[in-house]
Amino acid sequence: MTRTIQNPLRDERDKRLPTIAGPCGLVIFGVTGDLSRKKLMPAIYDLANRGLLPPGFSLVGFARRDWADQDFSKVVHDAVKQYARTPFRESVWDRLAEGCRFVQGAFDDDGAFDNLCTTINDLDQIRGTAGNHAFYLSIPPAAFPVVIKQLARTGLAKPGADQWRRVVIEKPFGHDLASAKQLNKIVNDVFPEESVFRIDHYLGKETVQNILALRFANQLFEPIWNGNYVDHIQITMAEDIGLGGRAGYYDGIGAARDVIQNHLLQLLALVTMEEPVSFEPRAVRAEKAKVLAATTPVEPFAETTARGQYTGGWQGGQKVPGLLQEEGFAKDSITETFAAITLAVETRRWAGVPFYLRTGKRLGRRVTEIAVVFKRAPHLPFDATATEELGQNALVFRVQPDEGVTMRFGSKVPGSTMEVRDVSMDFSYGHSFTESSPEAYERLILDMLLGEPSLFPMNDEVERSWEILDPIIKAWRSSGRPEPYQAGTWGPDSATRMLSRTGRHWRRP
Ligand code: BG6
Repeated sequence: MTRTIQNPLRDERDKRLPTIAGPCGLVIFGVTGDLSRKKLMPAIYDLANRGLLPPGFSLVGFARRDWADQDFSKVVHDAVKQYARTPFRESVWDRLAEGCRFVQGAFDDDGAFDNLCTTINDLDQIRGTAGNHAFYLSIPPAAFPVVIKQLARTGLAKPGADQWRRVVIEKPFGHDLASAKQLNKIVNDVFPEESVFRIDHYLGKETVQNILALRFANQLFEPIWNGNYVDHIQITMAEDIGLGGRAGYYDGIGAARDVIQNHLLQLLALVTMEEPVSFEPRAVRAEKAKVLAATTPVEPFAETTARGQYTGGWQGGQKVPGLLQEEGFAKDSITETFAAITLAVETRRWAGVPFYLRTGKRLGRRVTEIAVVFKRAPHLPFDATATEELGQNALVFRVQPDEGVTMRFGSKVPGSTMEVRDVSMDFSYGHSFTESSPEAYERLILDMLLGEPSLFPMNDEVERSWEILDPIIKAWRSSGRPEPYQAGTWGPDSATRMLSRTGRHWRRP
């Protein structure tokens, strides 16, 4: 007789069916900012358009501007028209617009928060939001404590019976371990950890979620996913844009804190973690936490890391300024716009495998990819000349753009002689699927409204990420200026040396 063993962590719902959020509302602090206009408002509309928001969904903007509800609604309308992914439909918009409210005030203004309370209570009555509200902090981190305190003072952070209250926090979550701990304490004193949703928008990207599908839904890859077969892994997030207009946020922060601490370490965790016992949030997070706990920076940093700052140059046929000429940056700014680091994952699976992470602004082109580069075959039964052109096998997750996966391997060049050269086999989303991928923020906002926490880093994960990065940033502080690199190139020479020292090289995506 066979017995089915039930996994208590497994939820029996059919995961192919989209789930619609229950009655709820969302309050955005920092509603006049770029993120809100370009990402949050369009994502909310796209969700509404896909029928995934409840009928009475309400969107409350909170800011200092002297706007009435209609002014706010017009701002949302314009943002949606300009940036939404899905087509504009009057009927969807009209329903969403009915739930738009605006509360005017500063973050330290008690009266404004009392008004917010009244607005939310009214929405519960008029729109049926049922006391379920999320508070989205799309604001500078310095303002987190005061807003959290106001949410506590007014009782907005406390749900009634059968209600929920959640807080959504945009990065940067601190600027080092100490500040992250302090922030976590402030937040967790008011909101229990299960009500805190820290956004790392990379986790909402379709291609990033595919990392776990590719690894754990197939038999092909996992047997060779370890140091016996893998030579090294390189993770690249390159951008061609500069930092014009972002001095307020970026100067003094730099590429490592902006991108490596969060997006790239999360990618590393997904590529290296062990198989979770299920896809239940607790199980996935536990594996990620375990692998991050085993991740350490490799020293000496003078050889294993690189940091650069872009100078003027040409990009896309246009002359572009260097960082020091960008508006708002200190004329002697030592903020790095390029960062590359080497990490080790000290587990049996990954012992001896180096992990190279790099990111930069004003690089050759915009591309994010994870390349798993394999060791050479232990023996080649060909003449040396036959394999002169053969590189190392690689599996590349093309995170963006041109989303997909590439496998690179050697193949015989057609003809009567024996010569083996690299070829690639491609999977591309555009060719294999007709559905277009949702934007990361659509997925994340919906998951948050559903209370589904898998894609949101927890407090200990965030702290661990700072712990990994802090020693490197500390060493950089006492090592002078970042090395200049010309806009439109692939970063400073030290980044090339960092790999060539070990006989390796960065992929040229
Ligand atoms: C943000 C960083 O988190 O990610 C930006 O602060 C960066 O500096 C952006 O430009 C890149 O996001 P994406 O989705 O365009 O790769």
